[in-house]
Amino acid sequence: MSTQALIDGLNEALNRELSAVIRYLLQGSTIRGRRNQPLRKMYRDEVRDEISHAQYLVDKIAMLGGTPKVDPDVTPPPANVEKIIENDLAKEESDITHYKKLAQLAEQIGDIELKMQMEEQAADESRHADELRRMKD
Ligand SMILES: [Fe+2]
Ligand SMILES: [Fe+2]
Repeated sequence: MSTQALIDGLNEALNRELSAVIRYLLQGSTIRGRRNQPLRKMYRDEVRDEISHAQYLVDKIAMLGGTPKVDPDVTPPPANVEKIIENDLAKEESDITHYKKLAQLAEQIGDIELKMQMEEQAADESRHADELRRMKD
């Protein structure tokens, strides 16, 4: 496994995180309705987690001698709250899968710090997915 393959995987994760930051930032401000206030608060809280994930990834890419490639998905959030939740749940679940893959790559090259951090971020996304499931009707 080459360092470049690892850098590519970290860049993919970085862009997933930046996309989540943009979505959660928008959704935390634009979701309306009294009964949707807990959902709005959840997005406002989680945007900080996603920023710290992105911060770790960009640091690691730079430390490995890679170039951070910033290309987030800026598709506007769905109009309907149920669709917003489904969309984010699917993305959190694929983030978990991607972090597990990165943890395996890190283990193969003996980078125990990266392995543990990828597992930690997978655990954070798993908690985010659980929160989203609780918000479903
Ligand atoms: Fe994240
Ligand atoms: Fe997340």
